[in-house]
Amino acid sequence: MCNEHNPVTDIWNGSYAVSVAVVLLAAGKGKRMKSALPKVLHRIGGAPLFHHALTAVDDLDVCRRIAVIGRDRSGFRAACRELGCELELATQPSQTGTANALLTGLMALGDFRGPVVVLYGDTPFINPDTIVRMHRMHLSGSDIVLLGFDRDDPGSYGRIVADGNDSVLRVVEAADAGEDVRDVRLCNSGIICGDRHLLELHAARVGNDNAAGEFYLTDIPGIAVAGGQRCSVLRCSEEEALGINTRVDLARAEAVFQKRYRQMVMAAGVTLKDPASVHFSHDTKIGEDVVIEPYVTFGKNVSVAGNVRIRSFSHLESCSVGTGSVIGPFARIRPGTTIGEGVSIGNFVEVKGANVADDVKALHLSYIGDAEVGPGTNIGAGTVVCNYDGKRKHRTRVGSESFIGSGTMLVAPVDIGDGSMTAAGSVITEDVPDDTLAFGRARQVNKPGLAGRASRKGDATDDD
Ligand code: UD1
Ligand code: CA
Repeated sequence: MCNEHNPVTDIWNGSYAVSVAVVLLAAGKGKRMKSALPKVLHRIGGAPLFHHALTAVDDLDVCRRIAVIGRDRSGFRAACRELGCELELATQPSQTGTANALLTGLMALGDFRGPVVVLYGDTPFINPDTIVRMHRMHLSGSDIVLLGFDRDDPGSYGRIVADGNDSVLRVVEAADAGEDVRDVRLCNSGIICGDRHLLELHAARVGNDNAAGEFYLTDIPGIAVAGGQRCSVLRCSEEEALGINTRVDLARAEAVFQKRYRQMVMAAGVTLKDPASVHFSHDTKIGEDVVIEPYVTFGKNVSVAGNVRIRSFSHLESCSVGTGSVIGPFARIRPGTTIGEGVSIGNFVEVKGANVADDVKALHLSYIGDAEVGPGTNIGAGTVVCNYDGKRKHRTRVGSESFIGSGTMLVAPVDIGDGSMTAAGSVITEDVPDDTLAFGRARQVNKPGLAGRASRKGDATDDD
């Protein structure tokens, strides 16, 4: 709950719960990405960078969340809709630097008074606990708190110049770093926490007399210290502060995301035979005692119940898998699929938009699209649900305890009754009632003696 005029709303464990506003800077052009897509809409673990960045404030009482964006408002809107994420969008008219972006965000806060946490949309791994600690430092007397990290090679990160007590004196951007600060190893993550009015006052005073000709947010600490305010730094790990400017950084961030997710699922009771070859989405849900073999990929929105085995080279997306099922190897489970309990989906089987009930077996080379398959049914090798007539998709129903013979074409829409059977090689175009065997193929004709004559014709050899 937001309490704008008296931000101290509660006290627990000796610390304060204070409503904060969050300003997420996400308007940068991201020139170094060389992309038509705004940088923070690039994805890791299937979710845009800005979405990961926002998880940093999960443990705070947040009353406003403003994202400062540039072009592509519709791209942000679509991403927010997809993720069910509520964000107020404020447009920075021209991308003249992070201080100007901050001012845009602060102005959108109207008459909010209280602490503001500033997040960078290209910095996805900040822990919620770190932001809670920054917030507490701010509440216990630091006017402005910066988040820093130590790095042997500070590279293109801004340098935080601090005294021995972690009191910040100023921040110097890499492009402006002279001899005096070159050796500084304390880097700026960009994340900052301070009082709204103070930040606004100082951001408005920032100039652009620097190597990039930009309005740097990082000038704010120097301005605050010159005005007699206290500015401190809290340290986090380098990995936590990883900022993404290039495709190489993006690939590094994907690797960090995957490593963390693998550790999380293993800690929750999942066996990964070869962790490095399994790729997760930010929303993958896996139950206890699931075994995942090498080379498995999870697209978005997959949920796997306990005791499932996902065999090698399988790909799952927007689907659920029930307890005790076995998927793969080489299976593809596509969006809109529900797999029941004790189901076996084997090699080169593709399932899409289908509800596959308990104890179904589809073990070889099949396509099950837009279908209901009843419990206990066996789908023979090479079965194809012909769901598309060139214009529209149609649904197919196969009842319970049925047997679909190998090589059956189920031409949708078609309904196969409970306990029924189709003969191998059938093309089924009409409904099959319960307890019925359907033949849908041409009768075989044998021509004695013709086989030899046919093969002698034209001196054909085995190699032809
Ligand atoms: C910034 C910091 C640097 C820090 C580094 C950490 C500044 C001036 N420098 O550098 O000290 O070490 O992050 O990763 O802040 N943005 C806007 N509007 C703009 C410009 C940028 O919204 O006009 C947003 C970007 O979308 C991005 C964030 O601000 O999310 C940071 O901008 P970026 O250009 O990536 O800053 P860095 O050069 O990485
Ligand atoms: Ca950056």
